[in-house]
Amino acid sequence: AAGRRERKEDHVRLATAQWQGGKRTTEFDDLEFLHHALGGVSLPEVDLGIELFGRTVAAPFYINGMTGGTESTGRINQQLAIAARETGTAMGCGSVSIALEDESAADAFRVIRRENPDGLVMANIGVGRSVEDARRAVDLLQADVLQVHVNAVQETVMPEGSPDFSSWLRGIEQIVAALEVPVLVKEVGFGLSARTLADLASIGVAWADVSGRGGTDFLAIENDRRPGRDYSYLTGFGQSAPAALLDARAHQGELGGMTLLASGGVRDPLDVVKALALGARAVGVAGSFLKAVVEGGPEGLVELIGSWQHHTRELAALLGARTAAGLTGTDVLVRGRLREFCTLRGIDAGAFAHRSARA
Ligand code: FNR
Repeated sequence: AAGRRERKEDHVRLATAQWQGGKRTTEFDDLEFLHHALGGVSLPEVDLGIELFGRTVAAPFYINGMTGGTESTGRINQQLAIAARETGTAMGCGSVSIALEDESAADAFRVIRRENPDGLVMANIGVGRSVEDARRAVDLLQADVLQVHVNAVQETVMPEGSPDFSSWLRGIEQIVAALEVPVLVKEVGFGLSARTLADLASIGVAWADVSGRGGTDFLAIENDRRPGRDYSYLTGFGQSAPAALLDARAHQGELGGMTLLASGGVRDPLDVVKALALGARAVGVAGSFLKAVVEGGPEGLVELIGSWQHHTRELAALLGARTAAGLTGTDVLVRGRLREFCTLRGIDAGAFAHRSARA
């Protein structure tokens, strides 16, 4: 148990360290909106409120699952929950497995519901856990949603990992069938391919977060935690969120009406709007919001979220979209490596540059 606690604190420490040192480039930079100087709408006409898991939330982005299980990470959860409450933002937490085995770790998760009794709260558990554990995870937070994370790359690199992958799909199927709350399957920063999404759709998963590479890098985090065996050569493994969204759209017919969320490397309101333009219903943010809360407390995060809420609306007005879904009618240029990804996967990247003409 001491090792697990240490791991939770290592994750926060190493993730926060990654977000120092200014803005970095990601595949979101390979996406550009075509500017139409007369194409905008007036700001008061824009409403980016969305329906998420049957509830209405103020803005199309949320605080993604991160932490809990120790005193210091419980404080982070408390601060995140206050900011979520004050801004009407949905929120996840880190894997609650630690609390299922050790009751003394549970309060670091319960604090989320205490601070935010009416908010949209997501519990989180790793794939491979039992249906019973999944139920207990939801009960612990009186959660509205269960996030199940699939993290094969992380399991491969992390010192205490178990690369026991072959039963994962079956395990998710059982959880989806048994739980009353919606189940959201997510990666942790390596992306979900169209094939993976189709597999998930085939077992009844209705929500997935493609969580791609480019932001918090769990390969580097786990590698730093594992002196002796070096996996840094794997850097860059996996797909970015933009690549995953393009892949998904090209295979939409196989996804059975699944709703996609996106996360991984979202740095600013423009990245949010780009992910929405590629068809994400909502956008998850972990590292950028963790940095804000660690540096500025709940007030710092309330301010940042408020500013993102305003800026995403301004960008939508500029792009001529009155709603979040309306952004899928914008003209998007797909450049660089992302375009190469499209070519290799047989995706018509050029079609995204002509969408407003069709309307
Ligand atoms: C995470 N993430 C994560 N995801 C999950 O499903 N369960 C977890 O326990 C954790 N733990 C965790 C800890 C910390 C400190 C961070 C920063 C992140 C992954 C997170 O939800 C997200 O998928 C990735 O971090 C990519 O998004 P960002 O950070 O690039 O916005």
